[in-house]
Amino acid sequence: MTRILFTADDIAHRVAALAKDIARERKRGHVTEPLLLVCILRGAFVFTADLIRALTKENVEAEVDFLGLSSYGDSTLSQGRVRLTSDLDTDVSGRDVLVIDDILDSGHTLFFVKTLLASRAASRVRTCVLLDKPDRREIPGAADFVGFQVPDTFVVGYGMDVAGSGRGLPYIGTEAG
Ligand code: IMP
Ligand code: MG
Repeated sequence: MTRILFTADDIAHRVAALAKDIARERKRGHVTEPLLLVCILRGAFVFTADLIRALTKENVEAEVDFLGLSSYGDSTLSQGRVRLTSDLDTDVSGRDVLVIDDILDSGHTLFFVKTLLASRAASRVRTCVLLDKPDRREIPGAADFVGFQVPDTFVVGYGMDVAGSGRGLPYIGTEAG
């Protein structure tokens, strides 16, 4: 049985608040250039679709591009845990970038993306995750913007899948507990 952790309404309120936080942080830094959203495929596509519209309400003009990544799971290769499956089309050099992911878990994915964007000379990189599982961290660090903290339990819905299914659920649920 799936237990609902966050309803569609909970998520909508949180996404609106995140957009306000992102807009405020850019204002504080006097950043006026268009924001480039880098959506990590596939889990972050629903979150990104809602966030870009919430940002428009906050008068933040945003472009979007997509980065396909896949995890090697328990691979012991030191840099091999994350594999790039589909690259960005946009030149990120000199850009103000917001990386968007569904879940910050071990931290390998965000570390990989931040390293990649730095090597391509993005001028400013911030990170935004809908969910954070701090107990699971292998690479220390936090996202700049976090929707909700969750315990170490597998979640599904709102773009996130279990073996490919469940991405279309409007809420976020868990099988555990
Ligand atoms: P990490 O921080 O590199 O471990 O990567 C986190 C990625 O693992 C996320 O982008 C998700 O795609 C995936 N992931 C982690 N936990 C879950 C979960 O509970 N449900 C679905 N996907 C998850
Ligand atoms: Mg993912």
